[in-house]
Amino acid sequence: MNNWFKQIGLTLVLMFSAIGLAQAGAEQPVATDGQIWSQLQAGATGVTTSHGEFHNQPINTYDLRVLELRSDLLAPALMAALFGMIIIFVVFIKINGISKLHGGYSGKLVYRWSKFDVSIHWLGAIPCLLLILTGLTLLAGRFFFQPYIGEGLWAGLVYGAKQVHDFMAIPFMLGWALMTVLWAKNQLPKMYDLKWMMVVGGYINFGPFKGKHPDAGFANAGEKLWFWAFAVFGLVISASGMLLLFPNLFEPSRTLSLIALVLHSVAAIIITAFSIVHIFMATVMSEGGMECMVSGYCDETWASQHHNLWFDEIKENGTLKYKD
Ligand code: HEM
Repeated sequence: MNNWFKQIGLTLVLMFSAIGLAQAGAEQPVATDGQIWSQLQAGATGVTTSHGEFHNQPINTYDLRVLELRSDLLAPALMAALFGMIIIFVVFIKINGISKLHGGYSGKLVYRWSKFDVSIHWLGAIPCLLLILTGLTLLAGRFFFQPYIGEGLWAGLVYGAKQVHDFMAIPFMLGWALMTVLWAKNQLPKMYDLKWMMVVGGYINFGPFKGKHPDAGFANAGEKLWFWAFAVFGLVISASGMLLLFPNLFEPSRTLSLIALVLHSVAAIIITAFSIVHIFMATVMSEGGMECMVSGYCDETWASQHHNLWFDEIKENGTLKYKD
């Protein structure tokens, strides 16, 4: 009986408390969505049991101009770096033609890159190409591709791009680190590189540039420029990418994450534009150039035409080695 009274008492207490709370709530003016949004932006905090760094900050309150920067500048710039450069090069080759080997192939192959060098080139290059394509999908896809393809296809595409982008980052960084460290000594600038630049390497087939063959060592000035751009912006893209890929490890602040995102995109734009130039030069523009990154050997005519100082040097110091 005693228990029965206790239960009734407890129920009544709970009922009156609930009515009291409801009345108190009814007296509170209801905030509009706009007011709630302003309060949150001003840093209003709530109550939570989480202990995370941003546990009481329910929304991103960063400067929305970052989103505009991505949609209005970075995304179109990445599109231009890829497709714009391809169009420019196709038109350039149509007008200018390619750089042919004078006198044709000699048939004698000169040792230029070790098997290991060729392997680390492709270790960096293949992931780099996949990162460019998936990165383009992630940064520019929603503005340039999504409106033209169905919801389902877009969802699959962007999910796949994210997975490939995350996984390719690691081999790319390995290839970047090995190429940067092992190849730097052959890529140091020399005085004769200035002359190479002034006549655009002899690749222009008309006007005062026609028939020019400027001096070049193991690497010419154009290759050196690409190498150092790749070394510097490869570092920027790798460091910013690591912050974005492993936030739990590096715990960047929100501001640092946004800076990393912007730097990552800027470095990607530069590397993409250079990669297109590099690929055109290696495959189409310079007859006989591609062989270097397939077998590690180059034709003797190619060596003397494009890298005369290096060819003279290896002849003189006895390190010239032909393929058997
Ligand atoms: C289909 C794509 C590519 C092809 C056909 C290609 C081809 C070549 C060739 C033939 C060379 C040797 C040039 C020489 O012996 O003087 C070379 C060098 C090099 N490649 Fe690539 N490459 C490609 C993509 C890439 C990419 C995406 C990267 C960036 C990760 C890259 C980075 C380099 C670097 C740093 C060098 C040394 C500097 C130079 O000689 O320009 N390559 N590549």
